[in-house]
Order: sequence, then C-alpha cells, then structure tokens
Amino acid sequence: MKFNLPKEPLMSVDNLPFKKIATGKVRENFDLDDELLIVATDRISAFDVIMPNGIPGKGVLLTQISLWWFEQAAKFMPTHVVPGHSERIRGLLKDFPHLIDRSMVVKKLKPMPIEAIVRGYLAGSGWKEYKNTGKLFEFQLPEGLLESQKLPEPLFTPTTKAAEGHDMPITNAECEKILGSEIFGKIKEASIELYKMGAKKAAECGIILADTKFEFGTDESGKLYLIDEVLTPDSSRYWPADKYEVGRPQASYDKQYVRDWLENLGWDKKAPGPVLPPEVVENTLACYSAALSKLMDK
Ligand SMILES: Nc1ncnc2c1ncn2[C@@H]1O[C@H](COP(=O)(O)OP(=O)(O)OP(=O)(O)O)[C@@H](O)[C@H]1O
Ligand SMILES: [Mg+2]
Repeated sequence: MKFNLPKEPLMSVDNLPFKKIATGKVRENFDLDDELLIVATDRISAFDVIMPNGIPGKGVLLTQISLWWFEQAAKFMPTHVVPGHSERIRGLLKDFPHLIDRSMVVKKLKPMPIEAIVRGYLAGSGWKEYKNTGKLFEFQLPEGLLESQKLPEPLFTPTTKAAEGHDMPITNAECEKILGSEIFGKIKEASIELYKMGAKKAAECGIILADTKFEFGTDESGKLYLIDEVLTPDSSRYWPADKYEVGRPQASYDKQYVRDWLENLGWDKKAPGPVLPPEVVENTLACYSAALSKLMDK
C-alpha cells in the first residue's frame, strides 16, 4: 500500500480557498471555474443515510481506485479527469498535502439525471425481485437461476438520480425518454462496454465485479464524458473470486459488510444512523483496502 491513511476520519473539508458548491454523501465539490475539485471524505453512507462516524482513509482508497479505473476507461471514452492529473492536483493542493491523495481535478460537466447501473450477477435487490417474480426489473430471466448466479448477459438497469432520498428504478424506455434517444443509446452502450472491461480486468485480479453504477456528463457541445467515481467499492459489488459459490450471498470487498452489520442490528434505516463500533470501522477499511491492493498491486 503506497498511500498514507489518517488515524482519524476526515468528516468534512473546510478552510480550502475555493468555493464549496456541493456536499454529497461522500464527496465535496469545489468550484474552479470550468473545472471542479472533488474531495472524497471518509464519510460512509448506507441505505442513503450518512453514518455518524467515518472510516479513516476510505476517501483516499476511493479516489485512488477511481483514478486507476479512469485510466483504463480512457481507452474507451472521454473521462472528466484533467490531463496531467497528478501534477495538477499536487500544484493545486500544495498547501494542503493531506488532501492530495483523496482529491481529483475534473472537467466541470452537466451530470445526466440518471444512474447507469449494469448488473452481471443476480444479487441484492435484483435477486429478491427475481425470486418473487422471475424478472429482473423489465427483463424476463430464465427459470431456475440461483442467488449470485451470473446472468446470461450483463443488463442495463438504470435508476433516477434523486437529489435527496432514494433513486428509483426506471425502464430502458423511460430512461430513453429522459435522456433523448441519442444520449441514451451512447450511455447504454458505454455502460455495458465499461462493465465488461471492468469485469475482465477485475477477474484477472481475482475479483468478480457483480454490478456497478456509472455516471455520465456532457459539455456545452453535447459530448459525453464518464464522470463521478468509477468502479469503486462504493459504486460496485466486488466479490473475492476464490470464495465465490452460487446459491448464497457472497463475501464482498464493498459496502455490503456494513449493510449486513446494520441489517443485523435491526436499525430502521432512518437518520441518524448508529455509531459504527471500532471493529466494524476496522473491518470496513480492511475490505476497501483489500479491493485496492488486489486491483492495483498486481
Ligand atoms: N465532472 C463532474 N461535473 C459535475 N458534477 C460532477 C462531476 N463528477 C461528479 N459530479 C457530481 O458530484 C457529486 C459527488 O458527490 P457524492 O458522490 O458524494 O454525492 P452523492 O451522489 O449524493 O452520494 P452517493 O455517491 O453516496 O450517492 C455527485 O452529485 C456527482 O453527480
Ligand atoms: Mg455519488
């Protein structure tokens, strides 16, 4: 592991000489005119609620995993990462060195109002739905599939992108209506292609990429870019390949560990969330850090 992780979690980013224009559940965006500085904090959200305490260094791991994947994705399509990123971020944050590894300078774009989800395996809410209806959203699937089984083909299952609260599943047709045919076609094709690229690369590192979420944005000319974060354990289900077995839930390198812990606790999923005990914090960090090492140390 080449990155220094803090002892204490960074819960918010203050005192930067840039204007803060957005605070997401995990990241904070600062205005740089036609660019943005995106700083990933150590906040963790589950079921759309931000937990009261953070995971020290999670923001560093997320940013580094994202940057690594953005490099791979750039072979397929334009991405929001600015050219010469490493030098740019070092220059911009020279007086704030502790933030360098958790930050990105990106082109400021218009985010498309959908979340581009691709599923390659039957897991989570998708598995629950299939068990009840035989369908995965609008898609009729073959009978007799088991939990965590690989789908015959990766499927594009978009959702709305809610400013607050939960994103809602939409059909491909509804998504096309929201985006217009041309952008919809490009986003769907890019999402499936990027998923396949990611799944293949992850497999070489001993990881199954079960599903993931991409975001896209456009510039003034309508050109499409990959934005936000890419193939991180916050936006994806990552399973260790050597522990994979169909017919049951999988061990994972992602947020699932925290979700399972919260489910067991019987918390009502309404804010405020419970304080994560030290052991849960430690185990969560270990999951994220294992994902990074598997992918990047190879
Ligand atoms: N290049 C870009 N231009 C403009 N906005 C961007 C760009 N890249 C990412 N964003 C936006 O920045 C925000 C990142 O913050 P964050 O991911 O913490 O928010 P969130 O989506 O509310 O939280 P979560 O990811 O937990 O759902 C998102 O709203 C994302 O759409
Ligand atoms: Mg987000």
